[in-house]
Amino acid sequence: MSTSSQWSSRLGFILASAGSAIGLGAIWKFPFWAGANGGAAFIIPYIVFTFTIGVVLVMAEIAIGRRGRGSVMNAMRQVGGKTFAALGAFAVLTSFIILSYYSVVGGWCVSYLVEALSGNVAVESADALKARFGDLVSNGYTNIAWHLVFLTLTCGTVVLGVEKGIERLSKYLMPTLFILMIAIIIRGLTLDGSWAGVLYLFNFSWDSVTPSAILNAMGFTFFSLSLGAGILVTYGAYLPKENNIPTSSIWVAVLAIQAALLAGLMIMPAVFAFGLEPNAGPGLVFITVPMIFSHVPFGAVFAVLFYICLLVAALTSSVSLLEVVVAFMHNEWRMSRRAATFTCWVTLFFLGAVSALSFGVWSDFTIGGRVFFDFLDYVCSNFMMPIGGLAVAVLMGWKAWPVMAEELSTACAYSPAVMKTIRIAIAYLAPILVLVAIYQGVFG
Ligand code: TRP
Repeated sequence: MSTSSQWSSRLGFILASAGSAIGLGAIWKFPFWAGANGGAAFIIPYIVFTFTIGVVLVMAEIAIGRRGRGSVMNAMRQVGGKTFAALGAFAVLTSFIILSYYSVVGGWCVSYLVEALSGNVAVESADALKARFGDLVSNGYTNIAWHLVFLTLTCGTVVLGVEKGIERLSKYLMPTLFILMIAIIIRGLTLDGSWAGVLYLFNFSWDSVTPSAILNAMGFTFFSLSLGAGILVTYGAYLPKENNIPTSSIWVAVLAIQAALLAGLMIMPAVFAFGLEPNAGPGLVFITVPMIFSHVPFGAVFAVLFYICLLVAALTSSVSLLEVVVAFMHNEWRMSRRAATFTCWVTLFFLGAVSALSFGVWSDFTIGGRVFFDFLDYVCSNFMMPIGGLAVAVLMGWKAWPVMAEELSTACAYSPAVMKTIRIAIAYLAPILVLVAIYQGVFG
């Protein structure tokens, strides 16, 4: 999108922001993350974080973008001055790193789509499915090749300026994905033994809440709302004045949470019914979903449809990440968008390749007990994005609250009580929760 254009409609903005939010985070990461962090002990804090600090940070980011315009660095500079400009650049770096490993998972989706097209995806044997996923991720060449395919799709979308086309496509495919997920959920819930999965997801007990589950839940809130990495600032720059920021923000949060919860319900009951392990890790979705498809009539056809939707959902997210970096290089470094995208394509290929190899030949190379891929995700989700969020909270809660108050009220005058609640959430609640979660997660 060129810097001069604007969203054509309110819906256009919500769809693009939701398109950024809903992606592999909800469908691939959420189920296995919930599985590995004790189910409800992760999900309940995730929901609480989303509706407290998540929503107000979404509002704040959009407000910064609309007031400041341009890249995230420029917007932060306009609203907050030099220090915040540097924090804007930090957010660009975050987006860049996320995209490097996001693209590896995107590659897995392409690979499964190709498998589905050849009719081989709906397999009944858990062992065969585990072996297939294991082969895919541990074979460096194939893993890197699929990563390259996905990265090229992302860069091609941005360079050809066909985001609008992708958006239009996602307007149909998102609802299709939701309907498919609901159908899969119904099938999953009618399997013997599936109820244990529902209990696992929603049966909350304080005993299983650990500091690291809370930190991970906060990290996932940031990841799932695309917060703290400049996305919504960049998108907000294209938002017309008459648009109501609070309602758009709530919509984005609701859609993001709905996608994650549907994905959890799609996976977890089936995991229990099939006797798989809930904490099986990143392969969980890629093993469970094909198994469910093997239990439905015309499963092979549905599988194709499912992976097309998943791929488009992943693309609308990866495009948003790339857009942040390209807008920055274009505005700050005066590069053409084409040259900027090409530079990203090359550098991200290499950085992503390291992540791709970390499941195979380089799996012995660990940082703090994590392979490179997990390390990047851990640092981005749990630290870099929350720090970006903290910067946004301090800027809009303290330094530029009048700007925030004005931007929130351009379409509709809110009562003083509502404004006060938002102020408390952004100025106190968000910084405190972020700092406590980080402190607890690291030292607790
Ligand atoms: N939210 C997306 C997802 O859940 C991923 C994503 C897109 C993202 N843009 C982001 C994550 C910015 C963090 C920051 O798949």
